[in-house]
Amino acid sequence: MAEIFAGLATSHVPAIGAAIDLGKTQEPYWKPVFQGYEFSKRWIAEHTPDVIILVYNDHASAFSLELIPTFALGCAEEFALADEGWGPRPVPVVRGHAELAAHIAQSVILDEFDLTIANKMDVDHGLTVPLSLMFGQPDAWPCRVIPLAVNVVQYPPPTGNRCFNLGHAIRKAVESFDQDLRVMVWGTGGMSHQLQGPRAGLINKVFDTNFLDKIGPDPQSLARIPHLEYLRESGSEGIEMVMWLIMRGALNPKVREIYRFYHVPASNTAVGHIILEN
Ligand code: DHB
Ligand code: FE
Repeated sequence: MAEIFAGLATSHVPAIGAAIDLGKTQEPYWKPVFQGYEFSKRWIAEHTPDVIILVYNDHASAFSLELIPTFALGCAEEFALADEGWGPRPVPVVRGHAELAAHIAQSVILDEFDLTIANKMDVDHGLTVPLSLMFGQPDAWPCRVIPLAVNVVQYPPPTGNRCFNLGHAIRKAVESFDQDLRVMVWGTGGMSHQLQGPRAGLINKVFDTNFLDKIGPDPQSLARIPHLEYLRESGSEGIEMVMWLIMRGALNPKVREIYRFYHVPASNTAVGHIILEN
């Protein structure tokens, strides 16, 4: 049987991807960011999963304002790298797990979560930057990746509670899949950041620290945070953190915090990262 054994969350700031691709990770501005992932890279080398269910948001790369699925599950064999304006990132193509993805779609949709099935979906920095942070610059990614794109770009995004419950449904789906697979779920995005308007550059360390403190032991309280509170407290893009709740909902009620990292700034953003084991 397939089993989810761990989850992690990390910011997915595009400038981090550019720093890696352009060989700037040892520059004084970037060094502390990448140092914060040294433990994580060692940890995942020892715990490489067969499959990652990678929860991220598309930033108008595969989708546009013409078509906005709330939850889109990547069911393809392969996902091409999106061109976000500077050409696709020089990273390996993302290989999916079509069989497990189809099984998740069936299980979750029959559990009344209306996923969109994406049989072709280019993946952007939301998905590739976390892979780069955790795995560095390999010739091929060391495992399969099932992308789960969540709309946090155009109002109304799903509630944190909806995301948390979707995590439960994903867990049930994975555990009923008839192959021995070790699966990890990643939630990406955040933490506090606002990229536009008079409050551009907003960071809220108190909000972020509370989120990191609670995501392991008390995710229910985070699942009750309304959209307006994310907007007010964590900036217009802080809503990306609802995606961490999908990851958390897919884990056991009790988890072990293995590692945590918080750093300001990277670009305009508070970088947050946590590893949780079942
Ligand atoms: C930026 C973009 C993101 O998608 C994000 O999550 C954080 C920062 C940026 O453009 O700086
Ligand atoms: Fe983002």
